[in-house]
Amino acid sequence: MVKRVSHIAVAVPNVDEAAKFYEEKLGLKLVGREDIAGSKVTVGFIPVGETRIELVQPAATDSPITKFLETRGPGLQHICFEVDDVAAELKRLEAAGVRLIDKVPHPGAHGTMVGFIHPSATGGVLVELSQEMRNDQ
Ligand code: CO
Repeated sequence: MVKRVSHIAVAVPNVDEAAKFYEEKLGLKLVGREDIAGSKVTVGFIPVGETRIELVQPAATDSPITKFLETRGPGLQHICFEVDDVAAELKRLEAAGVRLIDKVPHPGAHGTMVGFIHPSATGGVLVELSQEMRNDQ
């Protein structure tokens, strides 16, 4: 079951440069960042009510975000929905014939477990499902 929009991810060449618009023009605040080694990205977090904007910067030349920036330029990269049980949701969707990028969850930011649904199954939007695994954040 989808509980809320966890975050909206925006691909950027540089988190600090991109954060200027959100901080200086919208009055939001970049509250932290995290290197996600498994995904070769650095993520900057900007809370907005119950959700957040995540600015996603490549952390390696072979990062998927490097390719995204080269082919599409900076912009909306994915939407993430929080769910209760990401493994169960991925199984349910696979059984329903939904094309997945991840059939099993893998670690995301903030100690979450995540899995991605292919954009061809969603009307063109890369969709991430995320499950909170600890409550010390
Ligand atoms: Co995400």
